[in-house]
Amino acid sequence: MDPVNHPRLTLLTHPLVQHKLTIMRRRETSTGEFRALAREISLLMAYELTRDLPVRDVPIDTPLEPMMAPAIVGKKLCIVSILRAGDGIASGMLDLVPSARVGHIGMYRDPITKRPVEYLLKLPEDVAERLVIVVDPMLATGYSAAAALERLKAAGCANLRFACLLAAPEGVSVLARTHPDVPVYACAVDRVLDEHAYIRPGLGDAGDRLFGTK
Ligand code: URA
Repeated sequence: MDPVNHPRLTLLTHPLVQHKLTIMRRRETSTGEFRALAREISLLMAYELTRDLPVRDVPIDTPLEPMMAPAIVGKKLCIVSILRAGDGIASGMLDLVPSARVGHIGMYRDPITKRPVEYLLKLPEDVAERLVIVVDPMLATGYSAAAALERLKAAGCANLRFACLLAAPEGVSVLARTHPDVPVYACAVDRVLDEHAYIRPGLGDAGDRLFGTK
């Protein structure tokens, strides 16, 4: 399969998203600007990710008269952040859906096997009944994302989506193979994953740029 040809990949091509992403990529963009842009793009991503939530007309009273007006019904949301950089996306999404629950999955890369090892899992009790949006700004090897989705499926989640800022073709390909049922949302799919598992051209280390570490 063409790695970019994931059966359920949506690219967020909106000019505002692309413009903000371009500024985030620039070497000279400061931590403060980077964090603010991550928040803004995440809000726009949440708008797209929730486009198909079901609505039903409910009775309300305006100051002038009663009416039937659309309101979101059905599944509630949970945003699951893959630590630590996922927090930079989760916080922006929460601006748009402040009532969403937030879960966290922490994983580190085993230096020998290069595979993710879970060190933290904290999920809301009713996570299986929610629409779960898993967030990580960088879909690089795809191994952490695949492991997180597997963990959530094991917890009973059946309605999952994955959202990232940037993806490598290799990461998209891993998700296409391991979780073809899970829709993936990305602002761009870059050229390649390098030998250090960095996305090229990319934007560098998203966690370091979000939190000002190095
Ligand atoms: N994680 C990052 O922060 N950047 C990359 O390019 C790849 C993984």
